[in-house]
Amino acid sequence: MSKKLFYNLLAVLMLASLVLSACGTAAPAQPAATEAPAKKNYTYADLTLCYPQLGAESDWRTANTASIKETADKLGAKLIFSDAQQKQENQISAMRSCIQQGVNVIALPPVVEDGWDAVLQEAKDANIPVIIVDRSVSADKSMYVAHIGSDMELEGKKAGEEMNKLLPNGGNVLEISGTTGSGAAVGRAKGFREALNANIKILDSQTGNFNPTEAKPVAEAFLKKYAGQIDGFFIHNDGMAQAVVEAMKAAGVKPGDIKMVSVDGTRGGFQLMIDGWVQADVECNPLLGPQVFDMALKIMNGEKIDPEILTNETVFYPDKATELLPTRQY
Ligand code: AHR
Repeated sequence: MSKKLFYNLLAVLMLASLVLSACGTAAPAQPAATEAPAKKNYTYADLTLCYPQLGAESDWRTANTASIKETADKLGAKLIFSDAQQKQENQISAMRSCIQQGVNVIALPPVVEDGWDAVLQEAKDANIPVIIVDRSVSADKSMYVAHIGSDMELEGKKAGEEMNKLLPNGGNVLEISGTTGSGAAVGRAKGFREALNANIKILDSQTGNFNPTEAKPVAEAFLKKYAGQIDGFFIHNDGMAQAVVEAMKAAGVKPGDIKMVSVDGTRGGFQLMIDGWVQADVECNPLLGPQVFDMALKIMNGEKIDPEILTNETVFYPDKATELLPTRQY
């Protein structure tokens, strides 16, 4: 072997050993056989959940609040609860306060769909997961971890189908809707229109903000303006349906003269069915506490969660109302 060839070979060998040792250093350390990915074992006692409730406008909402509070108590979790009195800005301030306090999870029942991006981003930046509860938001799904609640559009569709059955020959209906811009009102109005037969005309639609006190004057004005032309009412919740019935009684309308479809399935709604005013009540279930806390703990422990949990709901009718009323929890 020539001297030149010998030195070339030596240089190649040295370079190869350098490369190999460098590769060895850069390679990620393999976990020892005993090391497993860190398993989190948080319990409910470690969980602080923030629930910026949107208000107290209905029996549905009261039942939802009770479900959240009772579940927290039962499980021994800490709850930071507030009442935004129907104001989005109050819900946003409550969320910001929860972010500052470093809660583990925020569960938000949004009063309206739009306008959540900034505060959701703040929660994300602070590594606080947000579960959207009850109504929906229009923000991108990447801004929150999951939604637990009802399919509001499906509820509206069911209401439309019930109205079709009640008015087989068509007719004129009026709608008193929930809070303008809320996922519940938007979804129910959309689904109702999609399902309604072409021979049924919506004469008018006004909001009652899911609130009986606000719905009553709307019903009174409707009954005056459209006297003699109304075949049906679609009311977005039972509390407002109770107010509409008061207005109908005052206007001399008898049970069943004007067909009524309502939403929620509260005890008040059941009583309206028993008394002959409401012919179909589309269920909307407020008892979401157990699902919310279960998901919150799973998130803390890094467990897999379902990003969309929609409640299975039915339609209630007068024929079973008397039997079912004592079993109703709200
Ligand atoms: O978002 C759910 C709706 O809000 C319920 O139907 C209504 O009663 C409540 O206030």
